[in-house]
Amino acid sequence: MYKSLTKESSKSFWREQVKKLDAYIPGKSIEETKKEYHLHKVIRLASNESPFGPSPKAIEAMKKEIQDGHLYPDSTCTTLRERLGELHGIDPGSYVVANGADNIINLLIASYVNPGDEVVYCTPTFSEYSKNTLLMGGTTVEVPTSDDFVFDLEMMLEAITEKTKLAIVCNPNNPTGTIVDEDKLRDFLNRLPGHVIPVLDEAYIEFVTHESYATGVEYIKEGFPVISIRTFSKLYGLAGMRVGYAVASEELIEPLLTVREPFACNRIAQAAAVAAIDDYEYIGKVLCENRREMTKMIEKLHSLGFEAEPTHTNFIFVNMKQDSSRLANNLLKKGFIIRPCAPWGYPEHARISIGTAAQNEHFFTVLEQILTER
Ligand SMILES: Cc1ncc(COP(=O)(O)O)c(C=O)c1O
Repeated sequence: MYKSLTKESSKSFWREQVKKLDAYIPGKSIEETKKEYHLHKVIRLASNESPFGPSPKAIEAMKKEIQDGHLYPDSTCTTLRERLGELHGIDPGSYVVANGADNIINLLIASYVNPGDEVVYCTPTFSEYSKNTLLMGGTTVEVPTSDDFVFDLEMMLEAITEKTKLAIVCNPNNPTGTIVDEDKLRDFLNRLPGHVIPVLDEAYIEFVTHESYATGVEYIKEGFPVISIRTFSKLYGLAGMRVGYAVASEELIEPLLTVREPFACNRIAQAAAVAAIDDYEYIGKVLCENRREMTKMIEKLHSLGFEAEPTHTNFIFVNMKQDSSRLANNLLKKGFIIRPCAPWGYPEHARISIGTAAQNEHFFTVLEQILTER
């Protein structure tokens, strides 16, 4: 007989693993912030989006593709995989494309992690590794990053047991912006036992210019059983379109293709990604301006007495030496959204995305006002 459910009684139907999870709490949206604080303009420096908009070539391609919005997309993302194959020099059969890198992490863990399997990574890092592992009934094994916020690969090796299935290295790491040294990563891959799959989350890898780094693609070409996760959300400015992919040997990719929903990447997103890969003018501009603004922002943050970690991404991990949530709240009222790092256990740190020159200038004017008012 039908009985109306209460919040509590409805929970009794949930899977046990789901009961253990907290829902993802996104930062405030631009729309919400405008409404709540009666603002006309809000700038979000909280989600590591591109401040430059999508690539013009991608915009053109999206406009064209919308005409075919009544047709299902190419389920296998053939054109995009072929283009990725040319870009990376790895066969098109080695890719799985999905609804953002978030979806790829979800597919990867759903494909490989049995209840009781362990997934090793360092913290602070991207929250989706933990959530998806717990969802599958796996065990998260979290080891701290080193004092300079770099993934500690030695500690990760020490944490490996016979139950370990995946070892995830977020490189560069979110929220700290740090990278692991190439020699250390190679040594790690060489010493990892054969029952552990190394995963490199390389959402920000295109921003790295350091002389000592290697991409997952290079290791895959050398025959390492690495799975690399990539996204079009950051460098290519397509966060709203949701396109991410994994690249690995065909054998490692196969279960993700099995688990993936048939139309996990919509046709407008696929067209945008294909066009964006070739927009060298846009890519050059984004990389150049990001680098220039990063240097200026770090200098400015230091001059305000904050500690800003060197970054290899489009965001900066800043020790603001005060309650960063309070500061973020004050910034919110004045139209700027930044990401306080208390949920990662760093209540005085914030993650600030690198904006355009005009956005950053405005941001610092407002930040200085707030600091002098206090
Ligand atoms: C390290 C890392 N991996 C994956 C993602 C997810 O990216 P996407 O927008 O493609 O889902 C993000 C997003 O911020 C990230 O920082």
